[in-house]
Amino acid sequence: MSLPCHVTRSFLLSLLFVSIATSASASASVFSEDEETQISHFQQYLRIRTAHPDPEYTSAASFLLSLADSIGLQTLTLEFVPNKPLLLLTWLGSDPSLPSILLNSHIDSVPAEPDKWVHPPFSATRDPATGHIYARGAQDDKCIAIQYLEAIRSLKKSGFTPLRSIHISLVPDEEIGGADGSMKFVQSEEFRKLNVGLVLDEGQASLSDEFRVFYADRLPWRMIVKATGSPGHGSRMYDGTAMERLMDCAEAIARFRDCQFDMVKAGIRPASEVISVNPVYMKAGTPSPSGFVMNMQPSEAEMGFDIRLPPTVHLEQLMERINKEWVPAYKNMSYTLIKTGPARDCNGKVLLTPANESNPWWPVFKQAVISSGNKLAKPEILSSTTDARFMRALGIPTFGFSPMASTPILLHDHNEFLKDEVFVKGIKVYESIISALSSFKLASSI
Ligand SMILES: *[C@@H]1O[C@H](CO)[C@@H](O)[C@H](O)[C@H]1NC(C)=O
Ligand SMILES: *[C@@H]1O[C@H](CO)[C@@H](O)[C@H](O)[C@H]1NC(C)=O
Ligand SMILES: [Zn+2]
Repeated sequence: MSLPCHVTRSFLLSLLFVSIATSASASASVFSEDEETQISHFQQYLRIRTAHPDPEYTSAASFLLSLADSIGLQTLTLEFVPNKPLLLLTWLGSDPSLPSILLNSHIDSVPAEPDKWVHPPFSATRDPATGHIYARGAQDDKCIAIQYLEAIRSLKKSGFTPLRSIHISLVPDEEIGGADGSMKFVQSEEFRKLNVGLVLDEGQASLSDEFRVFYADRLPWRMIVKATGSPGHGSRMYDGTAMERLMDCAEAIARFRDCQFDMVKAGIRPASEVISVNPVYMKAGTPSPSGFVMNMQPSEAEMGFDIRLPPTVHLEQLMERINKEWVPAYKNMSYTLIKTGPARDCNGKVLLTPANESNPWWPVFKQAVISSGNKLAKPEILSSTTDARFMRALGIPTFGFSPMASTPILLHDHNEFLKDEVFVKGIKVYESIISALSSFKLASSI
């Protein structure tokens, strides 16, 4: 008996579909209806174009406020600078006089180059085979904003009541320095009234199965070195040209940079615990219509450096190195240091949050992560800089934490993604953290 050709084909095709469907469901996770809703909230937020230079703050704010309303949180929109809203959401504790917990996340994102992405960067495409949700901001840091909110929704639903108040701040402009966002917020009367005891802010993904936690940011400095010297014919050999002096400076810095980098390469120190000094521009030469005058040694030359310092660095030693080795004034060089933020907090202490038993919040935080069934890596200094520095400058303990384990580090990269399963798991982690921190009663004054 032979079946008509089209029957055979459709039968084979349906077999094929069955096998595809089976293999897909074997690799992807099965989510509950609530979890699917959480994922879709994340995708909706990711689809709002919050990238610089023109972030859609208004749409983002109205979306986030509607989520907060649906949870029943108090909301306050602050606008320190027009069209740059900062949202403050509050779940009032049963004893609002206690120092509160502040969960911070920035609304803005860095730009993306769509043609370098496998899916458009604001599509929040969820790959059915891998569960990866592709979007600019998926890791940095829209995930935590939705995780904070969904964790609170879930705790509220379960009947949990916090002892301390929980606040969420959703802030603009972190990616461009925070001057119109967190910096103004921490100086405001509204912030003072929150009586914040502990801040959690963004962290970074972890390749291993341990979450990373950051207790300090490196201090970002910029240094501009200017050298002057006698100009002269390009053919002449003589001492004291601007270029020669600047090259001496660059060589001294390169030697120092090598020493620091060698410690990283040898595994003695993590990259975030050394001083990085990287040249970022050079400006010299005498312009001509076709480029530069080639037979003339210029009388001025300039070079810019990006410097990042661990907060524990010995500042006096570094200044001495700059003045004596890198840019000695007797060689007719001068420098300008731009320190984008203080090196010490308001109490004169190093800008870091102790991640040990000397900080009463630490064991509570750590235990909450562990009891959610997860692991925490050794606390680290963050190589770069976040809004956390503004809170630490006020002496408020602040940890950088984004629960993304077994995830490639893709912040500011092409094809930034977060796996749906990792995102959903993060909500559970925050449920554990928020309930522990908000019911924690301190013996002392904090
Ligand atoms: C530095 O510049 C001054 C003024 O131009 C000059 O008189 C002096 O000789 C220079 N010093 C050196 C070491 O080149
Ligand atoms: C706790 O950490 C701080 C800052 O890193 C450090 O100065 C202090 O010695 C540590 N204390 C203990 C008890 O380990
Ligand atoms: Zn970020």
